[in-house]
Amino acid sequence: MEKVSIIGAGNVGTDTAFYIAEKKLANVMLIDNVKGKSRGKALDLMEAAPIRGYDIVIDGSDDFKDMKGSKVVVIAAGKVRRPGMLRLDLLELNVKVIDSIVKEIVTYAPDSTVIILTEPVDAITYYTLKISGLKPEKVMGVAGVLDSTRLCEFVAEELNVSTADTTAIILGGHHDYMVILPRYARVEGIPITELLPKEKIDRLIERTRNAGAEIVSNLKTGSASCAPAASVAEMVEAIVRNDHRIMCCPAYLNGEYGHKDICLGVPVQLGVKGIEKVIELELTLKEKETFDHSASVVRNAINTFEFEEEKEKKK
Ligand code: 2OP
Repeated sequence: MEKVSIIGAGNVGTDTAFYIAEKKLANVMLIDNVKGKSRGKALDLMEAAPIRGYDIVIDGSDDFKDMKGSKVVVIAAGKVRRPGMLRLDLLELNVKVIDSIVKEIVTYAPDSTVIILTEPVDAITYYTLKISGLKPEKVMGVAGVLDSTRLCEFVAEELNVSTADTTAIILGGHHDYMVILPRYARVEGIPITELLPKEKIDRLIERTRNAGAEIVSNLKTGSASCAPAASVAEMVEAIVRNDHRIMCCPAYLNGEYGHKDICLGVPVQLGVKGIEKVIELELTLKEKETFDHSASVVRNAINTFEFEEEKEKKK
């Protein structure tokens, strides 16, 4: 059985381990620098196994070397938003967290596929790719799957239909200017534009855009964990089972959608090699303008990075 390491045994990391166990996808190594935290969480999850019927092994460690042999490494570490904060407000703090983690991944799990939850996820995915030296296909973020499942839930509630029949595609940055395309939100293949009036669609779109903040404002001292974790488990499943699934996630663009050297949410095909390909949709002029604006927010964040080679050039 493959091994998945999860860095960060907080709510998202622990929920991710739980969903991976429930799907019987892989053995899990929870890693956290707080002594005993990941071990305690792992024990608790394993003690549910007889009832839940998963025979995988979940372990916990505070030593990065226990990542060795991981097929996938999930980065679920870093600060989360407080009410009123933007994801982008976490950039400076979380870049420092990533700096401390990426060198360990390169040392102990250089062949793994890295899935990033740390916010702001598009810029952090780019930063991870740049400082790790990993191939672009091996580094991706969690955003589109999460935003899509939220829209799917809101559509199912509005139409009183099964969530099993809802799908959606959400592009661009995982921020307030994410690109939500109604024509790609469907119920059993039927676009919601044929099922709902515009004002209701607009309301569902706005709720999706603000869904993360809605949870933060309710929790006061935390942010979403179940839906992000379930999104990670979907991506992990596609990778460890080589399912060739199409999902939206922050991925490195090298000219696709007219953007180079940036990580943005786009549809990709996921399999054992990681990102097998980036899928380019035919966007209308208005959709492309929205996508470009969404990209500009990520570009501004990325432009704040100063990598070693750039510092060298300036000397
Ligand atoms: C969210 O949208 C945590 O940013 C993540 O809930």
